Amino acid sequence: MNDLAGKHIVLGLTGGIACYKAAELCRALIKEGATVQVVMTEAAAQFITPVTMQALSNRPVYGSQWDAREPNNMAHINLSREADAILIAPCSADFMSKLLHGGADELLSLMCLARPIDTVPLLIAPAMNREMWAHPATQRNLMQLAADGATILGVGSGFQACGETGDGRMLEPDELLADVIAFFQPKLLAGKQVLVTAGPTFEAIDPVRGITNRSSGKMGFAIARAAHEAGAQVTLVAGPVALATPRGVQRIDVQSAIDMLQACVEQAPAANIFVATAAVADWRPAQASDQKIKKDGSGQTPTLAFVENPDILANVAQSGRAQAGDLFCVGFAAESHDLLAHATAKRARKGVPLLVGNIGPATFGKDDNALLLVDADGTQELPHASKLHLARQLVSEIARRLPNAP
Ligand code: CTP
Repeated sequence: MNDLAGKHIVLGLTGGIACYKAAELCRALIKEGATVQVVMTEAAAQFITPVTMQALSNRPVYGSQWDAREPNNMAHINLSREADAILIAPCSADFMSKLLHGGADELLSLMCLARPIDTVPLLIAPAMNREMWAHPATQRNLMQLAADGATILGVGSGFQACGETGDGRMLEPDELLADVIAFFQPKLLAGKQVLVTAGPTFEAIDPVRGITNRSSGKMGFAIARAAHEAGAQVTLVAGPVALATPRGVQRIDVQSAIDMLQACVEQAPAANIFVATAAVADWRPAQASDQKIKKDGSGQTPTLAFVENPDILANVAQSGRAQAGDLFCVGFAAESHDLLAHATAKRARKGVPLLVGNIGPATFGKDDNALLLVDADGTQELPHASKLHLARQLVSEIARRLPNAP
C-alpha cells in the first residue's frame, strides 16, 4: 500500500540517541509513498550524520537557517510551506521546551514557529530518559504543547540506552509509521466506541485437542485498525490468532464461543458500533474431557456429541440499545456459493442493518478480499482490494449509515 502517497513530510531530528531510529523511520515513510525532507539540529548531527539522512531521504538535509541554497535565504519559510506535516522524531526534552516558548534560534525551531499553524500539523515523538520524561516540567510542557495544537505521539517503555528501564523511549519506526498514517485518515468515527470480533474460536475436546477453523482474523484486525485510524476507541475481541494488535486498539483474547460471547456482552453496553467478523464455531463438544482422551488399544474411536453455540451477533443485535438504534450492528457472512442470496437471508435472520458477505474459502488467510454489502436499500460491491483498504471503505460506509450521520 502507498498510504502516504502524495504526502510531503518534514522530518525533524533533535539531539538524542533515538536518532538511530529516525533513519529507519525515514525509509519507512518513503516506502509508504511519502517524500521526506530532513531537517536536523546541531545536536542531532552528533548522533547521526546528515550524509546518512540525505542518502535515505534522497534529498539534501537542512541544518542551518543561513543555508545559501535557498534563493531567498528563508529555509524556515520555504520548508514549512511545502509540508503536509512536520514530524519531530526524536524530540528531546530541551526541544520540547524550546517549542513551548516559541524559541527560534536555529532552523528547526524557527521553522516550527513559522509554520502555518492551521494547515501544517506538528507531530512530536518524544525521546528521553525515564526521569526526564516523568519530570513535572516535561509533563507540563507536553500538556501545553498539545493545548497549542501539537499532536503528541507518545513514548515507548522498556530498556533505555542509559541502562535504566522505564517510559520515555522513542516509539519504534513501525509504530510511528502507523501513527502518521492514522493521522492522515479522516476522523469519521471520532468519539465513537467500536467493538470488533475477529478470528476463529477454539472449542476444546480435551486439554490437548479441540475444534477450530481456518479464519485468520486478518479482516477483523484490519477493521479494528481502520476504526482506530478513523478516531474511534476500539476493543477487539480476538479468538486464537497469531496477529499483532493494531496500534491503539484494546485487545481481549478469548478461546471459545462462550468466552467470546461473555466478552462481547461485557463490552457491548459501551459500544456505538459492533462488527462481528469472527468465524464462531457453530457447535462445541457437549462435554470437554478434563483429561486427555487416550486410545485404549481396542481400535474403538471416541464418539463426540455436540451442542450449538450461542449466536453472539444475534444476541448483541437483540439488545435494547441495538434495537433503539444506539448500537449499530454489522454482521459478516463467509459463504462458499450463492453469496447474495445467503447474505440477504442472513441479514434478516441476524436482525442487523448491515451484512457484509464474502467468499470464505477465497479469502481465509489472505491479505486481500472482495466484499458485498447488503442493507435495507440493496447491495453494494467493494471490489477486490487489500483487507486494510476494504476495512477503511467499510468504516466509511458504516459512518455514513449511523444515526445523525452528516
Ligand atoms: N456469528 C456469531 N456467533 C455465532 C455464529 C456467527 O456472532 N455463533 C456471527 C459471525 O461473526 C458473522 C455472522 O454471525 O458476523 C455470520 O456467521 P456465519 O457463521 O457465516 O453464519 P451462521 O449464522 O453460522 O450461518 P450458516 O452456518 O448457515 O452459514
